[in-house]
Amino acid sequence: MSSDAAAKILVVDDNEANRSLAKATLEDEGYTVVLASGGAEGIAAFTAERPSCVLLDVRMPDVDGFAVCERLRALPRGDETPILFLTALRDVDTFDRALRAGGDDFLTKPVRPTELVVRVQTALELRRIKAELRDHYALLKKQRDDLLRLQLQKERLTAFVVHDLKNPVNTMDLHAQLLIRDKELSPSARESAAQIRTDARHLTRMIMNLLDMSKADEGQLAPKRAEVDLPELVRSVIAELEVSARSRDVKLRSAIAVPRVVADADLLRRIVTNLAENATRYAPPASAVTISADRTDGATELRIADTGPGIPAGMREKVFDPFVQVEAGERQVGRTSRGLGLSFCRTAVEAHGGTIWVEDASPGTTFCLRLPDEP
Ligand SMILES: Nc1ncnc2c1ncn2[C@@H]1O[C@H](COP(=O)(O)OP(=O)(O)OP(=O)(O)O)[C@@H](O)[C@H]1O
Ligand SMILES: [Mg+2]
Repeated sequence: MSSDAAAKILVVDDNEANRSLAKATLEDEGYTVVLASGGAEGIAAFTAERPSCVLLDVRMPDVDGFAVCERLRALPRGDETPILFLTALRDVDTFDRALRAGGDDFLTKPVRPTELVVRVQTALELRRIKAELRDHYALLKKQRDDLLRLQLQKERLTAFVVHDLKNPVNTMDLHAQLLIRDKELSPSARESAAQIRTDARHLTRMIMNLLDMSKADEGQLAPKRAEVDLPELVRSVIAELEVSARSRDVKLRSAIAVPRVVADADLLRRIVTNLAENATRYAPPASAVTISADRTDGATELRIADTGPGIPAGMREKVFDPFVQVEAGERQVGRTSRGLGLSFCRTAVEAHGGTIWVEDASPGTTFCLRLPDEP
């Protein structure tokens, strides 16, 4: 039985006996057969009958098989319909011409009925597979296009975050700075302005953290390494956090025994800021947060230590996941923190070929990051 029994086959042959034999053979297999006795008639039948497969004699008095084949290929559906040549000319030349004309297969006469059936079945099967491939291709192409579109949307969003969010937040910070310089400002207004500065910086930090994590997702977070003056970097971080630390009565201390480290200055600064900001926030009043650095074999280790509530052992890995915060629920309401700081830190440390972890340091928390000299 044929695998495509409903298929219609067009047989184009000027020889009546050949036509009849092909018709009988194929009809026995369940195919519908349409006959044409010359090239022109064959072309007309192709358009009228829309066959699934064409058997085409090469030598015909009006238009020869090769010319018919070329004309069929140019018609609608002509490209996807298998065309099998039938010829008594058993030579390589004819075979080559048949292929050049766009034939799918080539049968020499006299054609044995079983061979004819197998070749037709194969041609139809190939056509089916081709159509399937085309569908798969179309699906893949659609998925790729969807992905590209998403990617573009994401890039637009990133650009939006950078320009439309970062800039006004920076402007807010600038204006708050201007206010603070105003000698006539009342102490409470000054305090408010300082609070605006703290929050604006926090917002900027969150925006930058998000941006860098999305860059890392796309493999685009490449640290720009250079020699960094580590004591100076820590000094500037402490200066930045000074106001909020003082408002909590927390002292920020620096104990850096490493003068220089090779790293991306901006990323490293933000890593330390995020860790020191967390430490300051969790440190109890009248306590100190210490930022220290030491050399160990082939690496620099930085530690940010506080004497706050600590992080439960079961959470010490998880806190580095995005949006994870230890104390869920009410205490979070109204806070601007979103649990991105540590994810950014891990992303940025790993981009340097380094590692970051929470040390067992009760009471309190010590974050440690190790930056190898050779990443
Ligand atoms: N020094 C610390 N002491 C105690 N808990 C900490 C400390 N640092 C981080 N955590 C816990 O880990 C969580 C995740 O920290 P992370 O810095 O990622 O987020 P966040 O500070 O809550 O928000 P964001 O940094 O995005 O503003 C914090 O919410 C807190 O529960
Ligand atoms: Mg944080």
